[in-house]
Amino acid sequence: MTDTTIPPAGEDGAERDQGRSSVAAEGGASMDADRALSLDREHVFHPWSAQAHVNPMVVTRAEGSYVWDGQGRRLLDFTSQLVYTNLGHQHPRVVQAIQRQAATLCTAAPSHATAARSEAARLIASHTPGDLNRIFFTTAGADANEHAIRMARLHTGRPKVLSTYRSYHGGTQLAVNVTGEPRRWPNDTASSGVVHFFGPFLYRSHFHASDEREECDRALAHLSEVIAMEGPGTIAAVMLESIPGTSGIMVPPEGYLRGVRELCDQHGILLIADEVMAGFGRTGRWFAIEHAEDVVPDLLTFAKGVTSGYVPLGGVAISDAVASSFADRPYPGGLTYSGHALACAAAVATIETMEDEDVVGQAARLGEQVIGPGLAKLAEQHPWIGEVRGVGAFWALELVRDPQTREPLAPYGGTSPEMTTLTRGCVSRGLLPFVNFNRLHVVPPLTISADEASSGISILGEALDEARGTAT
Ligand SMILES: Cc1ncc(COP(=O)(O)O)c(C=O)c1O
Repeated sequence: MTDTTIPPAGEDGAERDQGRSSVAAEGGASMDADRALSLDREHVFHPWSAQAHVNPMVVTRAEGSYVWDGQGRRLLDFTSQLVYTNLGHQHPRVVQAIQRQAATLCTAAPSHATAARSEAARLIASHTPGDLNRIFFTTAGADANEHAIRMARLHTGRPKVLSTYRSYHGGTQLAVNVTGEPRRWPNDTASSGVVHFFGPFLYRSHFHASDEREECDRALAHLSEVIAMEGPGTIAAVMLESIPGTSGIMVPPEGYLRGVRELCDQHGILLIADEVMAGFGRTGRWFAIEHAEDVVPDLLTFAKGVTSGYVPLGGVAISDAVASSFADRPYPGGLTYSGHALACAAAVATIETMEDEDVVGQAARLGEQVIGPGLAKLAEQHPWIGEVRGVGAFWALELVRDPQTREPLAPYGGTSPEMTTLTRGCVSRGLLPFVNFNRLHVVPPLTISADEASSGISILGEALDEARGTAT
């Protein structure tokens, strides 16, 4: 998805690690990188990819907001990898917590209680809104969503799930069917009880709306009609990313999530908030749904940032009402690694660090004072930028050929020579960009400094200049 194919080492201006280069000359790190790449090409089967066309960047090390590639080149990480290193790379507190846990107790079966799992659950529940007091641990976001849907179906006794077209909910079978975006297409058997609808997205309004208020009202009227046409009594849940992430970082208009909550309540439908990407501080709140005041979902799924991605962990935060459904009947689901000790120790250290260092406040300030204004200024200078949208450390640039027609710079589900040139221009200047279709997402670690964020935005500007110059 994110094209990180990199230009060869050369006069590209990117900062290099001198120590590594000299080791490389002696056949050390660079040889390791070469071997890593050749073994990868021989034996690793990459996700979402045509295997013969994969050319991955070798990552040899990482620290803070930076990663180093196999050529010793230092890259400012504007991706947080797949939007998960919320504390940056190699945060010493999290690394030490994992090491300490490994020395004490690497693992224990989910049927036992461990200090790491209990404390991780307590800490997560202390930050989730409302009465989401119980945590079911999974190993990632997709299985968290699958279990949330299973819980909703069992709790309501209804089969269907509604979700939006512009969404991503994971790569496992049900999660990819709930997903709206093109990764669903080759996997969708249309037999999973999922119905898709349009969420609000004013820039490309499906409702011919001219302002956020109109978009909100019409998107809610549309959802209300879909519910009526599908039969309210057949719908277990509406699953929504509180702020859709990979599909374009569309912050919902004021009142939309409240309206969805009301529609759900009206019809006995559960609301599942997918906070896998937007949760754990990414948007300047612990969870993105908090931007919509007083909206509490029945189930909230998380992964990624809960451990800064250092050890895989996901989960479902469950309301008291849904949890009570399984007080006397067994919940028919589980995973060998549910609440794995190393992952939970990483979660505890991540959350404690976020609390102690006000990382969530830092993300909010970053958005308000640095990234938001920086990207807005960029948009004034670059006609390709059709819209800047986002919050906290969660931003997208919508790139268009023409601001009037809003024709995307790459087709939906595809790429274009311009987007490829742009990606390469960023990398050659020392910036790792997150690119999806016609969009550039700015999703750095929440701990990135203002100077680092500003220098990354300057690089985006230079790469945009270069790509536009090449194209015209
Ligand atoms: C919103 C959202 N939900 C679910 C997932 C799936 O998570 P995972 O890849 O950990 O299974 C993702 C992954 O990017 C996501 O962004």
